[in-house]
Amino acid sequence: MQQTIAFVLVLLQFAFNADGALKNNGQFPRNFLFGAATASYQIEGAWNEDGKGQSTWDEFTHRIPSPVTNNDTGDIACDHYHRYKEDIKMAADLGLQAYRFSISWPRVLPNGYADTINEKGMQFYKDLVDEIVKYGMVPVCTLFHWDLPLKLYENGIDWRNEKIIDIFVAYSRLMIQNLPKVGYWSTINEPRVHCLRSYGDGKHAPGIAESGIADYQCSYVILKAHAKAYRMYKKEFPHYKAPFGIVIDCQWYVPATNSSEDIAAAERYYEFECGMYFHPISKGDWPDIVKKRIAHRSQLEGRSSSRLPQITPEDIRLMKGAQDYIAINHYFTIMAANAEEASYDEINYKHDVRVNLLNDPSWKISVLGWAICPFGVRELLKHLKEQYGNEPIIFAEIGVADDGTSLKDDIRTEYYQGYFCYILEAMQIDDVNVVAIIPWSLMDNLEWAKGYIYHFGLIGIDFYNDPTLTRRLKDSTYFYRNVTTTKRINCDNVK
Ligand code: BGC
Repeated sequence: MQQTIAFVLVLLQFAFNADGALKNNGQFPRNFLFGAATASYQIEGAWNEDGKGQSTWDEFTHRIPSPVTNNDTGDIACDHYHRYKEDIKMAADLGLQAYRFSISWPRVLPNGYADTINEKGMQFYKDLVDEIVKYGMVPVCTLFHWDLPLKLYENGIDWRNEKIIDIFVAYSRLMIQNLPKVGYWSTINEPRVHCLRSYGDGKHAPGIAESGIADYQCSYVILKAHAKAYRMYKKEFPHYKAPFGIVIDCQWYVPATNSSEDIAAAERYYEFECGMYFHPISKGDWPDIVKKRIAHRSQLEGRSSSRLPQITPEDIRLMKGAQDYIAINHYFTIMAANAEEASYDEINYKHDVRVNLLNDPSWKISVLGWAICPFGVRELLKHLKEQYGNEPIIFAEIGVADDGTSLKDDIRTEYYQGYFCYILEAMQIDDVNVVAIIPWSLMDNLEWAKGYIYHFGLIGIDFYNDPTLTRRLKDSTYFYRNVTTTKRINCDNVK
């Protein structure tokens, strides 16, 4: 009966919204998870304490001259290692049902290998998970959010080298054994960004700039490592209920004009950015257009084979179906226009994709140049459902940056209101199976090579002027707390 009443109410709601406005009823399901996300290097600090090994990011941020804005480092960051109890309480006070964090691999395994455990590091994550669970939140854990043990790198082992695969699987196994209360596992955060920045343009640690070659090798090795860890989990932990996946970043790409070239450019960009990771996992191979483009240019560069590593039948068996849920990080929408074919003397990812990117002048743009386009998230969700079936989807990150000068962060409230409304629209109108939204980020933190000048937090920290690193509530904190506790959102004025 109750269900019938709810159904009639929903129908009435739809009837009142026949003017092109959003049609959802503003109510997320009762079991929906609202969370907040962080990552080890961006918040923990304590870079050399209690037996932690160094990561490639420790080495990178300590280089002279520094590759990071303002010579910023993660040496202290939010000092979360010492203040995790305060932070987890703060997350609980925000009304969260889930908290996403990542493990610093070298904090647990100082030289990267599972045979030498730093017990204090392991204890930190056990205590952290206990603290999350104590407040009734679901721990959502990422095994690798870019801080690779420096010792491995110094031994020639990074994401270009297949030897890392079994080492990563051993590390994953150890963490799964030790953290049985984790509610969602993911292996790697954003393989695309990691491979392009760390091995393509060299803007992230370890700073390798071999675009068009090392970045593709990284993508291949990461996908294999993920798939092998997934198979290990399914085989060795059959009694564990936590879904296992990989976090893929995916924006929404619209054609700059309705010319067939620009429409193809937007599709191509999607396949290079997102399909490159979704496709091998759902279908077992790279997207066709990605294979064709890279093979085409490789041939005209005079190579005997493609710069893109080949996915073998054995790899397909490993990769295909290697996830229990889809985890996406989504931030913005961007326009894609067809670009001219570049000279074959220059080898890089950009030339392989052959797309120019731009923003529509009518879009509102954040300090990072990212467009705030809530409609894009709904289009992306519809596309994911159409391409990969209706697997449960979690947003492992979603958010907007500002310059952090004011706690009156209207842009963040506006962003979340718009994006939440369009996600709900996709859930109710397009029947997309979204089960969680985990915004980036719980608190302001180190924005990698961009330092502390960009603020993504729902909670503010003034890194440059406040040595006490006091956590401060923003306007968006109150907005979000209302959403997490009521699971309701007002979409009346959302366009
Ligand atoms: C990453 C985060 C990062 C955020 C904002 C994602 O690419 O996972 O670590 O801080 O986006 O740039």
